[in-house]
Amino acid sequence: MRLETMTWIEVEAYLRRSAGVILPTGSMEQHGPLGLIGTDAICAREMAWAAADHCEAIVAPELAYAPAPFNMSFPGTVSLDATLFRQVARQVMGSLAHHGFRKIYVLNGHGANLEPLREAAEGVEAEVRIRSWWDFDGVNTLRQAWYGDWEGMHATPSEVAVTQHTHRIIEDPDLPPPRKLTSDFIKAHAGDKHGPPDAHRRDFPDGRVGSHSALARPEQGRQLIETAAQEIAADYRAFTA
Ligand code: NI
Repeated sequence: MRLETMTWIEVEAYLRRSAGVILPTGSMEQHGPLGLIGTDAICAREMAWAAADHCEAIVAPELAYAPAPFNMSFPGTVSLDATLFRQVARQVMGSLAHHGFRKIYVLNGHGANLEPLREAAEGVEAEVRIRSWWDFDGVNTLRQAWYGDWEGMHATPSEVAVTQHTHRIIEDPDLPPPRKLTSDFIKAHAGDKHGPPDAHRRDFPDGRVGSHSALARPEQGRQLIETAAQEIAADYRAFTA
C-alpha cells in the first residue's frame, strides 16, 4: 500500500492493526553516463514497494531530495544541505509518529543520507530502524557474483540494473571501464564523503566512481529487487512484531 494513494479512513483502519511504515530515502544526482538522475530514489522506493507486497506495510512517499554536494558540477543534480535534509526527515518522521506510526522503517538508497537520518531519528517519538538496501546478505551475494570489485562506489552496476528493469536502458558501447579504486580510497570515502564539486568532476570526469555501470543487465535488476524485497520484508516483520 502506498500512503499517497490511500484515504485517511484507510490509514486509520490500518493503524488499528499495525504501527509500521516504510519510508524510502534516495537522492537526485548524476549517476554517470548510463545511470538515471533519480537512481537512488528509484531503487529505494521500488524495493520498498516490492517488500510491502510481502509484508503488507504502508510505504510513504520517498525523500528524493537529499545531500549530494559533491555532484553539483554535473547537470541535473539537486542537493539539499545536510541540516535541511535532517530537518525534513525529522518532520516527516514526526508527522508519521504523531498519527501512531510508532515503528518507522527507513529504507535508504544514498550513502550521504545515513548520518543526517540517524540524527533526525533521535528527535522522533517512534522507534526508527535505518537500513540501506545494500545491507542485506542475499543482495550482496548477487552483487559480488555479478560485478565483484567493479561494483565500485557510484553509478554501480547493481543500481543501474535496477533502473534498467524499472525504467530504461541507456547504452554506450564506446564507454571504457572506469578507473579502479584502491581500498584506501574506498575506506576514506565511505558514506559518500567526497570533495568539492569541481574537484570531484575533475577526478571522476564521467561521474562514475569506480563502478563499471555497463555490466548492468535488466534481469539482474529484477532479481535484485525481488531478493531485497524478501530480505527487507523479513527485517520489517521482525522490527514491527
Ligand atoms: Ni546511487
